[in-house]
Amino acid sequence: MAKTYKIAVMPGDGTGPEVVNEGIKVLQAAAKKFDFNLELTHFDYGGDRYLATGEVLPANAVAELSKHDAIFLGAIGHPKVKPGILEKGILLALRFALDQYINLRPVILYPNVETPLKGKGPADIDFVVVRENTEGLYVGAGGVLKKGTPDEVAIQESINTRKGVERCIRFAFDFARKRNKRKKVTLCGKTNVLTFAFDLWERAFYEVAKEYPDIATDYAHVDATCMWMVKNPEWFDVIVTDNLFGDIITDLGAMIQGGMGIAAGGNINPVGVSMFEPIGGSAPKYTGKNVINPLAAIGAGQMMLDYLGETKAAQAIELAIRKVVAEKMQSMSAGKMGYGTKEVGDLVVAAV
Ligand code: IPM
Ligand code: MN
Repeated sequence: MAKTYKIAVMPGDGTGPEVVNEGIKVLQAAAKKFDFNLELTHFDYGGDRYLATGEVLPANAVAELSKHDAIFLGAIGHPKVKPGILEKGILLALRFALDQYINLRPVILYPNVETPLKGKGPADIDFVVVRENTEGLYVGAGGVLKKGTPDEVAIQESINTRKGVERCIRFAFDFARKRNKRKKVTLCGKTNVLTFAFDLWERAFYEVAKEYPDIATDYAHVDATCMWMVKNPEWFDVIVTDNLFGDIITDLGAMIQGGMGIAAGGNINPVGVSMFEPIGGSAPKYTGKNVINPLAAIGAGQMMLDYLGETKAAQAIELAIRKVVAEKMQSMSAGKMGYGTKEVGDLVVAAV
């Protein structure tokens, strides 16, 4: 009998619902072709719900989402809600509550996609960032004193646990092995200044590395990583780093792979419920205009199928994206694709 996967769909805010629609169209086409079923349940978590109810996530949200095999997310972020409320209350809350300790962000330049890096092509830009996703500066540790006075003090602490760091590093090595490309893991840190946090990272990194004699190791400070990503992106295969550095370098990564329109990611709990999303945000100014690029969401759907074990279907979607990008699209940018959002979805469906 054909397998059925229970997917929680969270379209979210802004252009999230539009790109999620196209993602689902493609997922359904793949399901039909590769003979599995998707049982989709929609959740309205996001800015509009918050404005209507005053609640970011209902009390049963985590329990409800946990009943699913995976979560497919559009975008969180609403122009009428103060920055931070939805991001912390929904996106970060779910990453933490579901212990999605890896944020996996491939940086792949597809043929015919424009990169701002002069002289670099698809052979040069093909790596993956493994970002720790539940610790570091994101945990909200710290506090303020004497707020609003000239003596105000603000402290924001980076929490790094041996367990959290080690499981992230181990994931990166396993991934490099599975990827089977350059077979190299680069630790991105700041050992010259953050001598507590990245000392722990560095020791854990080289200890774990001993278990992977087939994988080469490398180290780069985060500032240098930014430089090498522009100058010599071909040096990278798998980069492992902490939460904040991973956040920052993956925006740079998205730019060199053609922009937010094509950058997908997965919030992974290898033994739990993972959440897949386009990494670009809700882009509210494009909402409802049928101009936003759905390929990042479609790519997130592809990563989701890969994680669910539907490897062939995932490969078919990847090939379809490559084909549509190479043969049809003029640009990855909103409004400049040569097609509308829905039409790009249709092209990928046809190619699948
Ligand atoms: C991302 C985003 C989030 C992050 C924000 C919206 C909290 O920038 O997924 O990269 O910083 O992780
Ligand atoms: Mn980010």
